[in-house]
Amino acid sequence: MAAPFGTDVAHAAAILRRGGVVAFPTETVYGLGADPRQASAVDRVYAIKGRPRNHPLIVHVHEAAEVAQWAAVVTPAATLLMSAFWPGPLTLLLPKADAAPDAAFIESSSVAVRMPNHAMALALIAQAGGAVAAPSANRFGALSPTSAADVAADLGDDVDYILDGGRCEVGVESTIVSLLGDQPVMVRPGGITRAQLEALVGQMGGAPATGLRAPGLLPSHYAPRARLLAVWSRDLSAACEAHVAQCLAEGRAPRYGLLVRNSDDVAGLRANGSSPLQIIALSDDVALLARHLYEALRSLDDAGVDTIIAVMPDAVGVGEAVVDRLQKASGPRDFVKGKMP
Ligand code: TXA
Ligand code: MG
Repeated sequence: MAAPFGTDVAHAAAILRRGGVVAFPTETVYGLGADPRQASAVDRVYAIKGRPRNHPLIVHVHEAAEVAQWAAVVTPAATLLMSAFWPGPLTLLLPKADAAPDAAFIESSSVAVRMPNHAMALALIAQAGGAVAAPSANRFGALSPTSAADVAADLGDDVDYILDGGRCEVGVESTIVSLLGDQPVMVRPGGITRAQLEALVGQMGGAPATGLRAPGLLPSHYAPRARLLAVWSRDLSAACEAHVAQCLAEGRAPRYGLLVRNSDDVAGLRANGSSPLQIIALSDDVALLARHLYEALRSLDDAGVDTIIAVMPDAVGVGEAVVDRLQKASGPRDFVKGKMP
């Protein structure tokens, strides 16, 4: 059975206020929201996701002034970035305010804050009391949902309500920038690009700030059910040949799908006479690639392939986030229970 879903923001906000769990749309992906001040509601989010307790949740706000409730200091760089990119796909890591309730940030001295660029999300947050703690509305390690139907398929009736705001515009999660050290560090690429950030606050530091524990930083995450191989366009044909040869050597029929940008990517494809079950050509435009990335991976899963070979775009603009997600999805994932084919 699936959770009820609809477009009733007031109803969703009432559920959050009385300690329930609501999935809601943002411009990036759907979130699994709870009142960050109610420990039992936050507990339910962790239980539904199957996420370890020491990975904190992002606090979503509807106005920049709310950040002072959660962060001990709002640095000059934070002020600059918030005024340039909020509401929008940018999450900031700041030192946590002493008075901030612990529920959502167990074992963390920092807090992640973001103002989503989605009218329904902003109205929900305002009506729920000014802040909603939420991770992406998927089970730990799986693909983030970009539609209400994706949430229902993944979480079923574990949530109290799914607020349906249509398909997400950006399609990949927010960019996360740590402002905890001397220099800003891009911890996760996303909807706001490295170039946009650097134009405002100078060069991003390289290595993730020490002590960060984020699932997106684990070697495999954002993964479809099928095994995923991420390749550059020039290596696609060789990867298909090698995959088919390996299947045949192991005595099983190849059942693979391709995620490519355009017909050039598959021109001259050689695969030992064994064609892919499905080919999805997304776009040359990285914004469109990002928007439809998870949707396409889900549809390849639904087509029953056991392996997806995906061509990566250039890691420029939001293409950096697409490359990041495809590489994470192709990482070893023995720690994601039940996800190995
Ligand atoms: O676009 C997004 O950011 C979506 C939508 C729903 O807002 N949210 C999202 O949340 O992607 P989540 O929890 O799936 O990914 C946020 C990442 C996690 O890897 C989490 O561990 C990390 O940010 N994170 C949150 N708070 C943190 C903190 N204080 N320090 C380090 N990492 C943190
Ligand atoms: Mg997530």
